[in-house]
Amino acid sequence: MSSHGPARPLSTHASQPLTGQADVPGDKSISHRSLILGALAVGETKVTGLLEGQDVLDTAAAMRAFGADVIQHGPGAWSVHGVGVGGFAEPETVIDCGNSGTGVRLVMGAMATTDISATFTGDASLRGRPMGRITDPIALFGAASYGRKGGRLPMTIVGAAQPVPVHYKTPMPSAQVKSAVLLAGLNAPGETVVIEAEATRDHSERMLAGFGAEISSETTPEGRVITLVGQPELKPQTITVPRDPSSAAFPVCAALIVPGSDVLVPNIGLNPTRAGLFQTLRDMGADLTYENERLEGGEPVADLRARFSPDMKGIEVPPERAPSMIDEYPILSVVAANATGKTVMLGVKELRVKESDRIDAMARGLEACGVTIEETEDTMIVHGLGAGLVPGGATCAARLDHRIAMSFLCLGMSAQKPVTVDDAGPIATSFPIFESLMGSLGAEFTES
Ligand code: S3P
Repeated sequence: MSSHGPARPLSTHASQPLTGQADVPGDKSISHRSLILGALAVGETKVTGLLEGQDVLDTAAAMRAFGADVIQHGPGAWSVHGVGVGGFAEPETVIDCGNSGTGVRLVMGAMATTDISATFTGDASLRGRPMGRITDPIALFGAASYGRKGGRLPMTIVGAAQPVPVHYKTPMPSAQVKSAVLLAGLNAPGETVVIEAEATRDHSERMLAGFGAEISSETTPEGRVITLVGQPELKPQTITVPRDPSSAAFPVCAALIVPGSDVLVPNIGLNPTRAGLFQTLRDMGADLTYENERLEGGEPVADLRARFSPDMKGIEVPPERAPSMIDEYPILSVVAANATGKTVMLGVKELRVKESDRIDAMARGLEACGVTIEETEDTMIVHGLGAGLVPGGATCAARLDHRIAMSFLCLGMSAQKPVTVDDAGPIATSFPIFESLMGSLGAEFTES
């Protein structure tokens, strides 16, 4: 949806201890991919635990527009009757991907090697984000694109009538770019190869293999080399979407900074391409334990237990860790403000092209709450004040960015004066039950 209605200001204040169990929703990345690969398989894919956030609902609508039958059977329970690789129909209307960069970029890749055209748009945040990172590689397959200046939406993609396979080295660490190329490669004859210098989340590779595609990856001195054989028949799957570590980050981090807290966050995927935040928190001295560690569907999973941690210390987060925690820097900066000493986040320039410029959004809001920040194009440094010592007392701009809104609301739970976000609406894109879940742990929200 290209807008979510009137802005909804929301505040939090210093919280009583957060206690209990936080059942966070399904993984956003895996939910998008389940719908898209389900739509490209022949027959019916069944999905449980699907995230029903607006971003994923917009991808479901997109898959319907391309001809797949996408049906909700109950909470989190969906089926997708796919049309097969190369079977997408031309949508009759504009595809509105709302706030979702993952949605639009993956769907553009998925249709780029079929002889159809489609026009994409999104909300003000998405219309400001760069699409050249997708239109460049899909042009190599033979697709054309016609967007606004700077490669912005709205944009029409004309799919390649006679696609050729490509060999592509991603210019930035991005699972969205890698996945778009792999999805485009599905309908190109021969082998498509993607090389990434730094490993990013590998859900597309895992799921493509699960759907029966011939895909392999190896680590070489150049990076990870992923090879996909085009034009497979994808076989429908039964998918249980694991819970989202990026959503788990909020109750975990809130528990670490609210005095007296003890929160259990069960069934969280600890795929190494996603778990960088939890490692970083432990490096800072957080009381964060992994209980009941196990393997589920080939993915490492654990129950996370987070307890108030008054003695956390700032650290230097190495740049090579960035891809495994790219969505977690906003909430890490809130924890860092409650630790002592400097937390230095290196190699984070991709944060500037997320749903908002997340370095700028967090820096300005934290400064308004009394925290000293240093930043460069590629680095953010938070000067920690120590547990419970952030003054707060400010209104922070969410900038149409769910993770910025949730981060400042968590900050307010530990600050000396309430913290307000000017618009909590975007939270519905990824974590629609955020308020009720945090409320069940003991947090209080005030509408203003
Ligand atoms: C995602 C990849 C990341 C991440 C986004 C989800 C994905 O984006 O920020 O929330 O599902 O592939 P980039 O690939 O642009 O880093």
